[in-house]
Amino acid sequence: MLVLGIETSCDETAAAVVEDSAAAGKRIRASLVLSQLAEHRPYGGVVPEIAARAHLDHLDGLIARALAAANIGLSDLGGVAATGGPGLIGGVMVGVMEAKAIAYARALPFVAVNHLEGHALSARLTDDVAFPYLLLLVSGGHCQLLAVEGVGRYRRLGTTIDDAAGECFDKGAKLLGLGYPGGPAIEQAARTGDAARFPLPRPMIGRPGCDFSFSGLKTALAETVRRAGSLDDRARADLAAALQAAIVDCLLDRTAQAAARFNAQHGRGHALVAAGGVAANAALRPRLTQLATELNFRFVAPPPALCTDNAAMIGWAGIERLKLGFADALDFAPRPRWPLDPTAASARPR
Ligand code: KG4
Ligand code: ZN
Repeated sequence: MLVLGIETSCDETAAAVVEDSAAAGKRIRASLVLSQLAEHRPYGGVVPEIAARAHLDHLDGLIARALAAANIGLSDLGGVAATGGPGLIGGVMVGVMEAKAIAYARALPFVAVNHLEGHALSARLTDDVAFPYLLLLVSGGHCQLLAVEGVGRYRRLGTTIDDAAGECFDKGAKLLGLGYPGGPAIEQAARTGDAARFPLPRPMIGRPGCDFSFSGLKTALAETVRRAGSLDDRARADLAAALQAAIVDCLLDRTAQAAARFNAQHGRGHALVAAGGVAANAALRPRLTQLATELNFRFVAPPPALCTDNAAMIGWAGIERLKLGFADALDFAPRPRWPLDPTAASARPR
């Protein structure tokens, strides 16, 4: 089976061809990501209207290039999958309409993929991870710990009560004048920084439960920056290192709590998977590897390019869904909000 994946929920226009066949196994035949960074950078963040227009301008050409790179035509496809939400609705509409049009014209099944499910299942494309597994999903908009019990079956163990981890990286980078997107900028600046020079808090650490909180950390950083007055490169690097260390410590503590809960329900010997843009972070990955070893989990994180937004994960989620007969009707309506665990989300939306 060959599936076209389309991702347009934020500021990356992406198209991919993913294969799963008896002969070739699972593999990415093509995965193209067109960043809109330059268009949004002057505004210090993503402007939804600019994003939607850029998706509209570039998506056709990108799909043609992905098909060419995969060395196939539309007639070779077995399905079309597009991110159906959650995300910036103008962009999601562009991708969904394009996918529906191709599916209708070629009489192919259409799959509306939850962007978060795309992140959640990507480790099953790169590694053979069996259900159930514990997932740390850390991106720009989400920060959650989930028990992944099957395709479409998620139990949320914890979530942020305010900002997401990626948001904390992004806002921190803005405060430090390091630009956007913040995660890679902080990681880069932190390489030469001394994390111990500026003490920052670790919100929620040691508390029961698996929820996160990052807004107090951001405020503490803002206050530290204000007191420091003007920042030189040394101070910037030290503050970036301090922020990264605090975020990583918080993620580790909450993941350890979730691991205990997960093991109580599912027993030991399963995988701990990290996904989402923040899972690309080079300081986080070794710490999670170490934690997993201590707690008897196998640690799996897709390579960094598959942690940040891409269409291969959408194509793969499409394949997983099609294999189970979960195609969607062409009247599917794009969803700005779409929780993986609706029961938990009704108690706390983020
Ligand atoms: O998954 P993603 O690409 O898009 C969303 O679905 O949100 O995640 C983007 C987030 C941004 O907040 C970005 O700053 C963060 O992931 N990020 C990182 C790194 N690369 C991306 N955070 C920390 N370290 C990184 N290397
Ligand atoms: Zn994402």
